[in-house]
Amino acid sequence: MTVRHHRRSRRCAAGLLIALCAAASPATAQSPDHLLERYGQLARAADPAFERFSAERGRAFYFAPRVIIGLGEANCASCHLDDPTQAIRAHRAKVLCRACHVIDESEHPDPAHAKKRHLGAFSPAVNPERFRDFDRVERHFEVNCRMVLQRACTALEKGDLITWLITLR
Ligand code: HEC
Ligand code: HEC
Repeated sequence: MTVRHHRRSRRCAAGLLIALCAAASPATAQSPDHLLERYGQLARAADPAFERFSAERGRAFYFAPRVIIGLGEANCASCHLDDPTQAIRAHRAKVLCRACHVIDESEHPDPAHAKKRHLGAFSPAVNPERFRDFDRVERHFEVNCRMVLQRACTALEKGDLITWLITLR
């Protein structure tokens, strides 16, 4: 009961932010809850027995050790931090150089010429730009899951991850 109430008020706060930001960035018209609804439909399509996403599974997925080919052990936290509510400052955090200087083989591997990125906090609870655009999120899941897991992530994994991230403060 209290949990429901809590979730509701956060949704309103997020809705306000979207309204305020709408003029500046019309692409960010969706909310993490909206994305969760879509992943819920996809998870149910993949497995009719699907009931609900789990923040606990999402957290385990985020930290599970994997191997990036040619780079060694890594996980989602290698670039999105152990604490995804924190923003990343270039060269001030132990984040893989590859997070900002190259992300896949189609980009330039040499730091001097590669794309340089600013990485905002991963959690939509603190970063209003996160998980608000299904197509953008799908594109990044595609690249990152292939890189870190060598396969696509399932709708269940994506929904679990977002479910965990929105609980963070
Ligand atoms: C080598 C670094 C690296 C690793 C490891 C990594 N990511 Fe990312 N991720 C990025 C970069 C770079 C971006 C794009 C820039 C940004 O959005 O900050 C990004 C963005 C994303 C986004 C877009 C979210 C949004 O709405 O902005 C998702 C989803 C994502 N990553 C999922 C994952 C998952 C799941 C894992 C673990 C399986 C993972 N990433 C591991 C570097 C990484
Ligand atoms: C969070 C993103 C981020 C990460 C992680 C990161 N860098 Fe950078 N890097 C930048 C940005 C942005 C610049 C350009 C602005 C600046 O110099 O601060 C830069 C500049 C550089 C430059 C200067 C080259 C040039 O074109 O100016 C080198 C060399 C470099 N980085 C190496 C590294 C190495 C090595 C690592 C891993 C230990 C690393 N970087 C990790 C974002 C990052």
